[in-house]
Amino acid sequence: MPVIAVIGAQWGDEGKGKVVDLLAQKARMVVRFSGGDNAGHTVVNPYGEFKLHLIPSGIFYPRVVCIIGNGVVINPSVLMDEIAQLNQRGVDTTNLFISDRAHLIMPYHTLLDGLEEESRAGKAIGTTRKGIGPAFTDKAARLGIRAGDLLDKEVLLERLRFVLDYKNTILTKIYGASPLSLDEVYTQYCQYGERLAPHIRETTIMLEEALNREELVLLEGAQGTLLDPDFGTYPYTTSSSPLAGGSCVGAGLGPARVSRILGVFKTYCTRVGGGPMPTELKDETGDLIREQGHEYGTTTGRPRRCGWFDAVAARFSTRINGFTGVALTRLDVLDTLPRLKICVGYKLDGNTIDYFPANVAALGRCQPICEELPGWQTPISHIREYEQLPLKAQQYVTRLQELTSCPINLISVGPEREQTIMVSSIL
Ligand code: IMP
Repeated sequence: MPVIAVIGAQWGDEGKGKVVDLLAQKARMVVRFSGGDNAGHTVVNPYGEFKLHLIPSGIFYPRVVCIIGNGVVINPSVLMDEIAQLNQRGVDTTNLFISDRAHLIMPYHTLLDGLEEESRAGKAIGTTRKGIGPAFTDKAARLGIRAGDLLDKEVLLERLRFVLDYKNTILTKIYGASPLSLDEVYTQYCQYGERLAPHIRETTIMLEEALNREELVLLEGAQGTLLDPDFGTYPYTTSSSPLAGGSCVGAGLGPARVSRILGVFKTYCTRVGGGPMPTELKDETGDLIREQGHEYGTTTGRPRRCGWFDAVAARFSTRINGFTGVALTRLDVLDTLPRLKICVGYKLDGNTIDYFPANVAALGRCQPICEELPGWQTPISHIREYEQLPLKAQQYVTRLQELTSCPINLISVGPEREQTIMVSSIL
């Protein structure tokens, strides 16, 4: 059985949660490999509607083992709330495991995320303020505290004493904020440790065993390709890699084990936070897409910036991830629009270009060159067969497929599991 990496192909919020929940029916393991509780994966299934931030979207199937991989940064308090909420609604979480190598979000990370954003003033990134950037900074700076450290109180105390001293200097001397108390943070994290201990494991062994048994494993991405720190619109990016390449490092398996890479694209673009977005619509069409698609952040509630499908960005995303197939989501959101546009190139300083510039200032000056297609203007959420889609919807999908040069495996026409059109096999 293959390993399928499910990757956000745009700026996040593409509907990865729904796709993973759907594919997990046949899977034995789902591993979240990047990000933290900046993510918000909406899943609608027979249990109801859920907004997951840390727990893999396979959790609704009792036979599926769910792993929060080493590449994720975990806020233990958020994780415990999420576990409690799922349990209250009848979802079992015994099969949830956390890599002992996953780094923890500490109270100073969330504080510093807010303080750093405020100090950037007009140049703020528009982060989710969940402490993600500061936690990954500490990981790289060798100042992090990991889930495994919670299992040994002495190690935790020693590590925390050293790091907190340093963090308190920054909080007080640079930002004029109050210091954090070692006692309080230590006591709180000891409690988290006691509660989370049954879930903390050396998860790569579990993953290897599943692979050796040839079970279907899903690698669940968070955020999207254009938020990647290397390839996204730097510095308006997140702090861990949402790419297919990142899935191996963040889950703990070799690249040759990944057999399919499914890129999840919305039929239009959205982004939250700062940074350029060439196809952004600051008009009533953008507002209409936002309202039809309920495009408000799952984690922060912020209105998402909406725009046309950007095929230049999509080709870039396909190239750097090596997508073997595409899951196209939210086709139904475009149901009422009379005309649809697809961006096929950019005009930059008088020249036509067909690539996604690395420089955000240049990307910010790019004007989209668009093709126009007629809308289908009829509801499609009830349709389950590709051939039943209105011809104009098929034409739109076919054009996206041509432009991305990648087969479309499935199309989502609504938030529920069954509101899906299987076009071709993912495997
Ligand atoms: P951070 O990841 O909270 O540091 O935020 C950095 C950037 O990534 C900001 O523009 C956020 O809005 C964006 N971002 C982070 N997580 C998500 C997500 O799950 N969906 C969409 N945008 C996200």
